Order: sequence, then structure tokens, then C-alpha cells
Amino acid sequence: MSEILVTGATGNVGRQVVVQLLATGIPVRTLTRHPESARLPEGVTVAGGDLPDPDSLEGALKGVSAVFLIWPFLTTEGAPGVLEVAARHVRRIVHLSSSGVDDDAERQTDPINQPHADMERLVEGSGLGWTVLRSNTIASNARGWADQIRATHVVRGPGIAATAVVHEHDVAAVAVHALTD
Ligand SMILES: NC(=O)c1ccc[n+]([C@@H]2O[C@H](COP(=O)([O-])OP(=O)(O)OC[C@H]3O[C@@H](n4cnc5c(N)ncnc54)[C@H](OP(=O)(O)O)[C@@H]3O)[C@@H](O)[C@H]2O)c1
Repeated sequence: MSEILVTGATGNVGRQVVVQLLATGIPVRTLTRHPESARLPEGVTVAGGDLPDPDSLEGALKGVSAVFLIWPFLTTEGAPGVLEVAARHVRRIVHLSSSGVDDDAERQTDPINQPHADMERLVEGSGLGWTVLRSNTIASNARGWADQIRATHVVRGPGIAATAVVHEHDVAAVAVHALTD
């Protein structure tokens, strides 16, 4: 199998996708905006690129068999162009979306779910073989509480409630399955 490109490779989920792909022996290419300083596992190739800028991704996408795509933005600006470039080079895309997307809603009520819903439509219409993963809240979000816990031993904030979170390792395991099988 030729290389698989992992976007968000320095992030919570992408880093796990990288590690788990490497464990299967499949060659991994990673995308980051900071190829010189990104701390990535040994054995990967590193490509520079800015996700919403399609022209910057030609080199990263050329010669890979599949791509793990995150879209960490509040709009889909640039995404159609990115998918066009991907369709020229890649056969399969696995896109990380959110379980918050409501299939029955014309517009999503949550502003984070709207770009996820829009991205899903773009991926589905891209002409690539696609899998969309809808993840629930990722456990690593809790790291955002660290400062509060250190300072006050209490977590305060909107929307904090008992939630069944999913570990990024498990999201990545499903992504690796979809990328490779
Ligand atoms: N958090 C949740 O509960 C949740 C739930 C469902 C779905 N999701 C989805 O999961 C995605 C990934 O989450 P995560 O926690 O793994 O993300 P994260 O840890 O915040 O990492 C973000 C990644 O995005 C990359 N990035 C940011 N801007 C970029 C740009 N302009 N060009 C290229 N790369 C860029 C960063 O890479 P560099 O800095 O190296 O460039 C980094 O690797 C989210 O964006 C969201 O769509 C999250």
C-alpha cells in the first residue's frame, strides 16, 4: 500500500491515527503547517501545507492512496478546492465529523455542527470513495480544564455536564480500519 496522508497529525486524534497506522506497517505521510518544528513519530514523512489552501496541498496529496481529513474550521471556505485536489491524487478519504450533526435539520442549531454538516456533503459529493466518522465528544477536551483545576480544583463553564466521551485512541482505531480495509 502506498502512503496514507494524515491531516491534523499533530493533534489529538490525528496523532493516534499516525501511531496506529505505523503499527500496521503502512507508510504514513503527515500534514502540518510547521514541518520544521512539528514533533511527529519517527518513520513518517512530513509534508507542509495549509489545509484551506488547495494549492499548498498538491505536494502532500501527490502519490498517496488515502487521506484522513479533519476540518478544524468554522467555515468550509477552501474545502471544495481541497477536495478537487484530493480527487486528482487519492482514491479514498476518511473524514472526521461529529455526532452532533442532525440529518433531519436543514440548518444545524449549533454553529460547530453546521460546518461539520457542510463538510460531510462536500466529502460525499467529491467523487472519492469516502467514509465519514461521526465522533462523540472526545475525551481529550478535558485537557482544556487543566488550568482551572490547577488554580481552583473546580471546573466551571457552560455546557459542562456528565457526558459519555470517546477516547481519541478509539476514534483513530475506527479511522485506521476505514483507511486500510
Ligand atoms: N473535540 C471534540 O470533541 C470533537 C468531536 C467530534 C469531532 N471533532 C473533530 O475532530 C477534529 C480534530 O480534533 P483534534 O482534537 O484531534 O484537533 P486538535 O488536537 O485541536 O488538532 C488540530 C490539528 O489541526 C491542524 N491544523 C489546524 N489548522 C490547520 C491548517 N490551517 N492547516 C493544516 N492543519 C491545521 C493542526 O496541525 P498543525 O498545528 O501541526 O498545523 C493540528 O494537528 C476537530 O477539528 C473536529 O472537527 C472533535
